[in-house]
Amino acid sequence: MDRISIVGGKQLSGSLAISGAKNAALPLMIASLLTSERLTLKNVPNLADVNTLARILRNHGVDLAVDGKRADPSPYLGETFHLTARDIVDTTAPYEMVSRMRASFWVLGPLLARCGVARVSMPGGCAIGTRPVDLHLMGLKALGAEIEIDGGYVVAKATKGLKGARVSFPKVSVGATHAVLMAAALAKGETVIENAAREPEIGDVAECLAKMGCKMEGIGTSTLRIQGAGRLEGAVHTVLPDRIETGTYAFAVAAAGGDVELRGARKSLLDTAFAALEQAGVTIAETEHGVRIARNGRGLQPIAIETQPYPGFPTDLQAQLMALMTRAEGTSVIRETIFENRFMHVQELARLGADIQLQGDTATVRGVKQLRGAQVMATDLRASVSLVIAGLMAEGKTTINRVYHLDRGFERLEQKLSGCGADIERLVSG
Ligand code: UD1
Repeated sequence: MDRISIVGGKQLSGSLAISGAKNAALPLMIASLLTSERLTLKNVPNLADVNTLARILRNHGVDLAVDGKRADPSPYLGETFHLTARDIVDTTAPYEMVSRMRASFWVLGPLLARCGVARVSMPGGCAIGTRPVDLHLMGLKALGAEIEIDGGYVVAKATKGLKGARVSFPKVSVGATHAVLMAAALAKGETVIENAAREPEIGDVAECLAKMGCKMEGIGTSTLRIQGAGRLEGAVHTVLPDRIETGTYAFAVAAAGGDVELRGARKSLLDTAFAALEQAGVTIAETEHGVRIARNGRGLQPIAIETQPYPGFPTDLQAQLMALMTRAEGTSVIRETIFENRFMHVQELARLGADIQLQGDTATVRGVKQLRGAQVMATDLRASVSLVIAGLMAEGKTTINRVYHLDRGFERLEQKLSGCGADIERLVSG
């Protein structure tokens, strides 16, 4: 298994390119199941999760062609995928595939809408809580699906097709919103989703579905009104920039100090996270090509924050914020309200000398004068990148084991950071 080694204490400068959003690319790829025509996606990030999903989609019968290298003036544009699901040859998504990545469960809605039947293994993915799928099933049942659980599989049927309905979610869920949104696009009649997640990646998928021929109102709000199209066409869509990757590098620059332009980043996607960084003493400015993050030698101010669905502070940046606050001049309080078990980075940060007390859903972080490099273990996707941030601040060498978690969601992380002056390298095993 590969490891990453970091020698801390180097300031960052220059620029790095932000990739397309993983959390938009995955559902957009899944949307290809909704049409027999070609869906072309531009700016797809090169990530382990994307490759896992590509394998799952191929198993259902999706043809996937990836454009070769282009002499492109915008080096931050990712790969171009052409996905064609002319015939769905298999409506089962097996355990061996779905257990590797939770978002692959989201094929359920589109398969059901297109074929009237789907059999999808209950999901796996990052171990950050129980992460049930009751809301997905509730939404699909409202559209007329009959659902039973059999041998660890969700078996869904809609022999007469899905019918538009009002779906009012008792809790905001990104995945369940995607599921109902995609299924409703092919259902007969109008669907209204109330208390829909407002994450920009939902908006990106909704815009792509609109290009595919489905009428949609309320994009970006918590009430989505979808006129089922019965049949969808092909489309060309560009994946929006990754706001979690953007935030992660912004926290990294804040941690290491320096001045870096994040090319291709969109500032408006991160209002809450950037407000927190500004409160901590970091300078953030929109530039012609992205966002510039700078911190001079001044100390970091502590902050109090809780994670919330968009537009609140993202749970996917909680670990990174905590890493930064380990060196603040005072005590920060971080409350995790989305996932009940998302503090696995705490004990690893403690190995570097961080002072963090956990009580229920709240972490109290007392800033320390210095972190010291150590061996640490990546436990999940976002937790592992928080260790990179801590390593950039620590004195001496930090070695992060099990970096396959990082490769699921961060493209060329060590190249991007070393290009800005970080002393970071991948130690390839065997
Ligand atoms: C998505 C993101 C993930 C992010 C999360 C919250 C992708 C690929 N993943 O995950 O990076 O951390 O949103 O912003 O986009 N819940 C239920 N029942 C359900 C579904 C969810 O109780 O049927 C709960 C979950 O346990 C959790 C909360 O709702 O406590 C939010 O989860 P959800 O928004 O669904 O997260 P994901 O879609 O899995």
